[in-house]
Amino acid sequence: MKFEFTPENKELAKEIVKRYPPQYKKSAVMPLLDLGQRQAGFTSIAVMNHVAELLDMPAMRVYEVASFYTMYHREPVGKYHIQICTTTPCQLCNSDSVIEAIMKHLNLQPNQTTPDGLFSLEEVECLGACVNAPMMQINDDYYEDLTAESAVEILEALKSGKDVPIGTTKRESCEPFSGPKVLVNEPLDVSTLTRSDL
Ligand code: FES
Repeated sequence: MKFEFTPENKELAKEIVKRYPPQYKKSAVMPLLDLGQRQAGFTSIAVMNHVAELLDMPAMRVYEVASFYTMYHREPVGKYHIQICTTTPCQLCNSDSVIEAIMKHLNLQPNQTTPDGLFSLEEVECLGACVNAPMMQINDDYYEDLTAESAVEILEALKSGKDVPIGTTKRESCEPFSGPKVLVNEPLDVSTLTRSDL
């Protein structure tokens, strides 16, 4: 299967390559693989070969990058690719119930795609939003402070094309549920603590 960037992505690829000194253009391998994956739906061999050609790199070097980082999908995924975190902080906040509810609702096991191609599921390690655990990532967006019910509601809303709020809907950002605990007073006037001639 042949792969080439669309004219629009070709321009974008040129812009990306320009961000690096000419002798280090292979540094653009990750963003170009990402661009290829967004266009093709997954990081196929053809995508990797095309990136290798553009960056004058041995194809094997590109395969090594693509097979090391889990964000590159080596197989096609669903329109909505669900990555659910089950690492300790999320697990302590009951991510097991979230993944079970999703599996039951979609009749899907991890690393499978629904027959209509709409959803695919992957169990992943920490995605860095532990403070609002449990959480999942769908495509580029994070959904946090999940319960089994809210996770299923999100999937249903996506399926029917509705807008779904991203992040958390249970707090403003990532402050404790009982309210902010630090930086709640007026900032200290440091001049009261130092010598006046300093
Ligand atoms: S443990 Fe789930 S996001 Fe970090």
